Amino acid sequence: MASVLVCGGGNAAQVVSCLFASRYKVTSISLYADEAERWDKAVKEAKGMTCNFQGTNKAVNSMPDLITKDPSAVKNCDVVLFTVPSSFHEQYFRALEPFVQKGTIFAVMPARSGCDFLFKKVMGEKADTLGLAAFETLPWACRFNDWGKTATVLGTKESIGAAVVPPVGKTKLDVILKLQGLLGVEPKIIECPNVMSISLGNPGQVIHPGVTFGKWQNWDGKPLAQKPLFYHGVDTQTADVLEGISGDITAICKGLKGLDPNFDLSEVKTIMEWYMASYSTSIADGSTLQKAMSTNSAYEGLCHPMKESGGGYVPDFHFRYLSEDVPTGLCFSRGVAELLGVKTPTIDKVLLWAQEKLSKEFLKDGKMQGKDIKDTRAPQAFGVTNKKDLCSFLRIKSEP
Ligand code: NAI
Repeated sequence: MASVLVCGGGNAAQVVSCLFASRYKVTSISLYADEAERWDKAVKEAKGMTCNFQGTNKAVNSMPDLITKDPSAVKNCDVVLFTVPSSFHEQYFRALEPFVQKGTIFAVMPARSGCDFLFKKVMGEKADTLGLAAFETLPWACRFNDWGKTATVLGTKESIGAAVVPPVGKTKLDVILKLQGLLGVEPKIIECPNVMSISLGNPGQVIHPGVTFGKWQNWDGKPLAQKPLFYHGVDTQTADVLEGISGDITAICKGLKGLDPNFDLSEVKTIMEWYMASYSTSIADGSTLQKAMSTNSAYEGLCHPMKESGGGYVPDFHFRYLSEDVPTGLCFSRGVAELLGVKTPTIDKVLLWAQEKLSKEFLKDGKMQGKDIKDTRAPQAFGVTNKKDLCSFLRIKSEP
């Protein structure tokens, strides 16, 4: 029987722990403050977490075998699932590294961008003996109802893209079969040819910073009486921003193909293609990106992250839509573009605005050289500062 270590303690980690614990031996680890202790207490009080599947009578009640903050627990696990926001991936990789055994597979959901750069940096020589599966997103949309006790699975993806780097001695297929066995029938894992496809195809980097910028770039600073809708509130100008970022990413793909026509980026979708592939059944009008987003029933009622202030609501720019998706998404793509000499006008505009909201400096004088670059997934943060180094990391043909 598979022995799984689930990393994190938020919506995703608790739901995955509950779903998997009904079938496998699950250890859950949270390194965040006293979260492991609080979670253990809550789930035991409830006699197991209950996950309800929206729109069905299905419910799963279960609890992990162990909830801990001790990273040595990884010694006994053959699969490690990262279901914590990508801003904290490095913390978990670093904590687990001293104890991890050869052959262990790290499945990172979602990987966001540049996960392989980080994995190699932290695992060093051990990296080749370990497996990495970088997933494009989380298989489930899920939210707590009562923290540690009940949650709702709003939907399960039919399919999900993943790029696999197997441990020495194993094949990609070995890893995919093992992970598919864990997930069950849905979602079906679609193999992507390389981690760069997952990194550039990361939809979070387009949607979250793009919609936030579109909504708030001209905000007058006054509190709002109500929280505005995030997806259903997208107007045509905001949809143009998303298409602009997506177009910049397409240009980066062309830049990489220009170096090596055989480098396979066919799985990197435009944002419109991604929406239609992910939500075709819940979108009422797919004639434009704006309509596809504003008529997607899966996003009903989801609002911009807001804080109460001055008798109303103001945007929370430190929510993960910027604090996660800018450093581990847009910064990666902008960094790759720079190494390739590709211009990214919309990404630059959004990145400059967002870094100011985050009180960070990533892009400085037109280059990824700001003082906070080390906190990002830009290749520059890993010492990859020219096209030759990038080609060597990607194992693609370098220019003569
Ligand atoms: P979440 O916002 O519930 O995660 C919060 C968790 O992050 C905390 O419980 C804690 O374990 C950790 N954390 C927060 N602050 C920390 C700190 N300062 N230091 C260390 N750890 C800290 O996120 P959620 O919903 O569980 O999502 C996890 C990932 O999955 C995110 O990348 C999200 O974008 C992605 N995702 C989530 C979906 C969902 O439906 N929940 C759907 C698609 C993607």
